[in-house]
Amino acid sequence: MTITLAFDVYGTLIDTQGVISALERLVGNRAAEFSRVWREKQLEYSFRRGLMQNYANFAVCTSNALDYTCACFKLALSVDEKDDLIGLYRLLPAFADVEAGLAQARQAGFRMFAFSNGSAEAVELLLNTAGIGDYFLGIVSVDEIKSYKPNPGVYSHFLRRAGAVGAEAWLISSNPFDVIGAISSGMRAAWLKRSPEAIFDPWGIEPTLTANSLVSLVGQIAQK
Ligand code: 2OP
Repeated sequence: MTITLAFDVYGTLIDTQGVISALERLVGNRAAEFSRVWREKQLEYSFRRGLMQNYANFAVCTSNALDYTCACFKLALSVDEKDDLIGLYRLLPAFADVEAGLAQARQAGFRMFAFSNGSAEAVELLLNTAGIGDYFLGIVSVDEIKSYKPNPGVYSHFLRRAGAVGAEAWLISSNPFDVIGAISSGMRAAWLKRSPEAIFDPWGIEPTLTANSLVSLVGQIAQK
């Protein structure tokens, strides 16, 4: 049985907190809170666009969420300052454990895909900037079906595109809503608990496995 891995991108491979130092120059010690609100609004906008069937690219959710967060923090940004932040978001760094985890997964013979709310173009830029693009057989973006995680159609789309069946395909994500979405759609799913404070949504749907680093997570899948 060949195992297929669907790696979530934002928050799992790529660190959305990578804009903190730029934010510190704008909002000082409120930078971490600003970053958290920006990310939560970005995801909320994707959920709402999915439900409303009013799709716009994830970059639109990111930009609209930045506008919301600026209003919330009473921060008036110039067009150039906003463009600079969005530019940084397009080049966010990978987490420190990612390269080693991907190398281990490749060595184990897993088929590896990036699977994201982001457009293929945006994800390709992120992965290549982080120097990890070559690990993946391909990028599967929700943009191909104009909806968002956790619409079950998005996970079926992944399986079709990857030529995999649910029992042999794992989602790897730090985002609990994504893990619950994948399991509900018949995939297996590993939760990468990126922070000790992270809470898994108490819905009665548990991750197939949980790990606190990508290396440990890949090792656990290899032993299944
Ligand atoms: C991603 O799809 C959920 O933002 C996350 O990359």
